[in-house]
Amino acid sequence: MQETMEKTKAMVQHLAAVNRILEKNNHDPARLIPILQQVQDVYKYLSKDVISYVANSLDVPVARVYGVATFYAHFSLNPKGKHIFRLCDGTACHVKKSHGILHALYEKLKLNDDKRTTDDMMFTVELVSCLGACGLAPVVVVDEAVYGQATPAQAVKLVDDILAAANVEE
Ligand code: FES
Repeated sequence: MQETMEKTKAMVQHLAAVNRILEKNNHDPARLIPILQQVQDVYKYLSKDVISYVANSLDVPVARVYGVATFYAHFSLNPKGKHIFRLCDGTACHVKKSHGILHALYEKLKLNDDKRTTDDMMFTVELVSCLGACGLAPVVVVDEAVYGQATPAQAVKLVDDILAAANVEE
């Protein structure tokens, strides 16, 4: 019962933020992409409930909103962790052994190709295409910070630093 109430409360808060975004965009179906971007900026992903809500609010078919959300690689339909490690999988980074970094992070965070977010929702590891900084290969972006000539040890240390900072905040 308590759990259901918590869920409902969370959903209402969710929708209040989505409503603000819809209002800011004048409920204009032509602004579907920016609306989805803004919703994802807030929640880091697009849940099924939010997609249905946006579709109903804009009076467009749910399938159309799904179509847009799945067409653009930028959108995610799965929840992501608080901190996102983006590893470049472009050719230059690949040649400079970016996969060593990937596997070090997988090992550190107990993740794999099918499980990219930690159970505590702290970290997500993603592979992305060329970040346009090939001269710095291999490149890792952690949240908004770019790290060039990255190494497996450095990536693991970045995880440790984030965990240490989170412990200090608690
Ligand atoms: S291949 Fe990694 S930045 Fe271009």
